[in-house]
Amino acid sequence: MRDINEIRGEFPALSREVDGRTAAYLDGPGGTQVHASVIGAMSDFMERGGSNLGGPFASSVETDLVLRDARAAVADLFGASPHEVAFGQNMTSLTYQVSRALGRTWRSGDNIVVTRLDHDANVAPWMQAAADAGVAVRFADFDPDGCVLTVDAVAAVVDERTRLVAFSHASNAVGTIPPVADIVAVAHGVGALTYVDAVHYTPHGLVDVAATGTDLLAASAYKWFGPHTGCLFGKSDLLESIAPYKLRPSPDTAPDRWETGTQSFESLAGVTAAIDYIASHGEGATRREKIVDAYRSIIEYEARLSDRFLAGIAEMPHTRLFGLPTSTGRTPTFAIEVEGMSAGAAAGELGRQGIFTWSGNYYALEVMQRLGKGDNGLLRIGFVHYNTLDEVDRTLDALVRLGA
Ligand SMILES: Cc1ncc(COP(=O)(O)O)c(C=O)c1O
Repeated sequence: MRDINEIRGEFPALSREVDGRTAAYLDGPGGTQVHASVIGAMSDFMERGGSNLGGPFASSVETDLVLRDARAAVADLFGASPHEVAFGQNMTSLTYQVSRALGRTWRSGDNIVVTRLDHDANVAPWMQAAADAGVAVRFADFDPDGCVLTVDAVAAVVDERTRLVAFSHASNAVGTIPPVADIVAVAHGVGALTYVDAVHYTPHGLVDVAATGTDLLAASAYKWFGPHTGCLFGKSDLLESIAPYKLRPSPDTAPDRWETGTQSFESLAGVTAAIDYIASHGEGATRREKIVDAYRSIIEYEARLSDRFLAGIAEMPHTRLFGLPTSTGRTPTFAIEVEGMSAGAAAGELGRQGIFTWSGNYYALEVMQRLGKGDNGLLRIGFVHYNTLDEVDRTLDALVRLGA
């Protein structure tokens, strides 16, 4: 990866200070900080004067291009085609939009599968659509020891009446990464569609919808250095054939017909900039090639952060890690319990020291209940590629003091 200080210099928020010390933003799983090029692209759009789509004048034509460029950029990020990309307010809204539409196609006697490893945004919308359609919901479970969702756990609950398997590309709570392509293959084996929540995975690993074969996938740009906008991938035949809830005058053709109301065009300008930023970490002839290469460096760098953190945590008997104790098979997101202290109190104390972490269930309701932490949740410490080994050490020191 490029020099870490150079990278950090491109994120204005990373120079924030708390009581004379630089803040350590370890809340990436809740939302990353924004790259300067994203801020520039968004303010450029607004300064130039944007208009709505489809007008016969310059600012509207330019807005058409902003949308076109953002579709192309997200297509490169996911390994998809631009006409397979739609935008929405966030992943949750897009998932409601897709779940309402798919639910209309389910029939009595059908079932759908969700998992205990998922954020509620990939559970509740499906449960509610299933309740409306009168179909059963089945849960694929994970082993609390390691918190890995296996392909066997999914295979155990699907059958020929399964219409959908909704699962996570990576857990926003414990960081583990399920075998996405294998789970998709199991779902397709019984004729079910797949919906993958890539919100937590995208800042850490390469999304490749062609390689994994997923039918649908959603992510959120604010988790990968961009603005608050949701991005949906759907195979083109699906986006064409499934009928979304939409207004009558809005486009009937995909992907536009999946986009409710007017999009945040300034955010779409920022989405493209964020993806160009990710691509800037790699080399290659095309943006997709650069993105593929960029993730190699990001994964390698983040593994160094994880290894250092895991080695430190292993030496602290007053802490307990939930999830894999290795840097492989996971993102650098760690759910931790500090003995004798609530998760909220631990995050509060770290926050006073300028170390920004999260506590509670982070909407990963099923995960916390499965781990027996439904009431208090856990402390979550999440690194991304702009964090440093010094920040890891500073956090470990602070955790040592919490146990003193
Ligand atoms: C794994 C995961 N899925 C879904 C969501 C919901 O995303 P959004 O805020 O874009 O609706 C989040 C947000 O934290 C998340 O971490």
